[in-house]
Amino acid sequence: MASSATVLLFSLLSLSSLSLISATQAEDPIIRQVTSDDAGNSLLGAEGHFSLFKRKFGKEYSNEAEHNYRFSVFKANMARARRHQILDPTAVHGVTQFSDLTEEEFQERYLGLKGKLDFLKSNLPEAPILPTNDLPADFDWRDHGAVTPIKNQGSCGSCWSFSTTGALEGAHFLATRELVSLSEQQLVDCDHECDPSNPGACDSGCNGGLMTTAYEYLLKAGGVEREQDYPYTGTDRGTCKFDKSKIAAKVSNFSVVSIDEDQMAANLVKNGPLSVGINAVFMQTYIGGVSCPYICSKRNLDHGVLIVGYGSAGYAPIRLKDKAYWIIKNSWGETWGEKGYYKICRGHNICGVDSMVSTVASIQS
Ligand SMILES: *[C@@H]1O[C@H](CO)[C@@H](O)[C@H](O)[C@H]1NC(C)=O
Repeated sequence: MASSATVLLFSLLSLSSLSLISATQAEDPIIRQVTSDDAGNSLLGAEGHFSLFKRKFGKEYSNEAEHNYRFSVFKANMARARRHQILDPTAVHGVTQFSDLTEEEFQERYLGLKGKLDFLKSNLPEAPILPTNDLPADFDWRDHGAVTPIKNQGSCGSCWSFSTTGALEGAHFLATRELVSLSEQQLVDCDHECDPSNPGACDSGCNGGLMTTAYEYLLKAGGVEREQDYPYTGTDRGTCKFDKSKIAAKVSNFSVVSIDEDQMAANLVKNGPLSVGINAVFMQTYIGGVSCPYICSKRNLDHGVLIVGYGSAGYAPIRLKDKAYWIIKNSWGETWGEKGYYKICRGHNICGVDSMVSTVASIQS
């Protein structure tokens, strides 16, 4: 497996510089310049890329030492984006809003999934096996009004709360035909539920949490308020301000979906968007396309996101064939990825996307 991947990699190296140019969004000069830089070249022009980056994302640094440090991190991330591009040729990698952060800083501030590997052995209810023969070839809950606009978790490891509200927003829509944006801040402030099969793992605001424990919390608390009644602040320093009289959506039940991409699709179509855990290592440099890296650990599930749909044919410049993919709603604002969305290829549990899948139902009210 490793050796065939290596052979494939080397045979692709010669092709990759060509395809990078076509895969790159030509209207974005930063990205074109960065990804078309030859790997290993002197970082001539890195200064210019950094200025463009600062302007594009409104970056300001408090002093010169900080500025210089961030520039060095930026250069390392440009090299990393080029490595990711080689490992993940069906996506486009380059400069993102996170290009001045080290991998550790990125993990700490923008991820926040307290995952467990043997998720399926955790005594949670399992979703019934659904028929899969009549599944549509393409499906997208955004086309059916079940998905709220992209949100932004800011510099807080609260991804789990966005994945939770996203799934419940969809389930609530299915139950009521009403799309209501729900409060992550209530979960950040009030949900301290622990995973009974892993007592060290408790939902803890900006320090991470888990979607299934958040559903447990919502069952106990009675429900969740609207976003507008309990707005997001991006910190976990406040106290819990949950007001039961303002409950806008209630969990009826939830379950864990088996590691089977057809069952995932069937549950998505039947129950609405699915909460999933994912290894986010390629997401720091992701610009667009279908991410399908040759090597991505299925074990380090460190980010909670929402599958809102799937497609049968994505853009795959190198392999010259269509790739099936999942459409993933992220919580890093619209400036990240494809207007806030990520596409990851379907069918191989890439980056562990099949390993921690849950589905929720809402009470009709
Ligand atoms: C909720 O429970 C019902 C009845 O047991 C079950 O059929 C359904 O699949 C469950 N929904 C979810 C999302 O787990």
